[in-house]
Amino acid sequence: MLSPKLEDALNKQLNAEMYSSYLYLAMSAYLHAADMDGLAHWMYVQSQEEMAHTMKFFNFINDRDGRVVLDQLPAPPSEWKGILDVFEATLTHEQEVTALINGLADVADDENDRAAKVFLQWFVSEQVEEEATVKGIIQKLKMVGDSGSGLYMIDKELGARAAVDINAVAAEE
Ligand code: FEO
Repeated sequence: MLSPKLEDALNKQLNAEMYSSYLYLAMSAYLHAADMDGLAHWMYVQSQEEMAHTMKFFNFINDRDGRVVLDQLPAPPSEWKGILDVFEATLTHEQEVTALINGLADVADDENDRAAKVFLQWFVSEQVEEEATVKGIIQKLKMVGDSGSGLYMIDKELGARAAVDINAVAAEE
């Protein structure tokens, strides 16, 4: 059984992951409108990835005989100042998620819930990877600046990102 405090904290994180998916879907729409179809595809896959994270929390809470409670999602922004701004906002958001995951891991420690600690370790590692990936994209975007051919290359590269199998990621341990 989950302690009520940990169950509540896990539900809050489930909601935060769902919002991340919603936010990245909004960014994907913005990038489509800017005719950056490859970047829009990358962000769409990122939205799917966040849905997989949501389902990991959904499954873990259920497996521990907890009760999933869904909350209202805030509306994400619909406008950014440009492509670089989108990815800088993504990094800021991921840094916020990292802080949330660390806070949640602290709750699991306080409640001495070993299974939750093991479960959350996956997210601790995932956040390191996500922040590093987005930082890499930002570096490339800064490197090419306004160069049309540079942006074309980045758009092509990110457009090759493989789709996410939400159930497979949700089942990863
Ligand atoms: Fe689920 Fe990108 O953090």
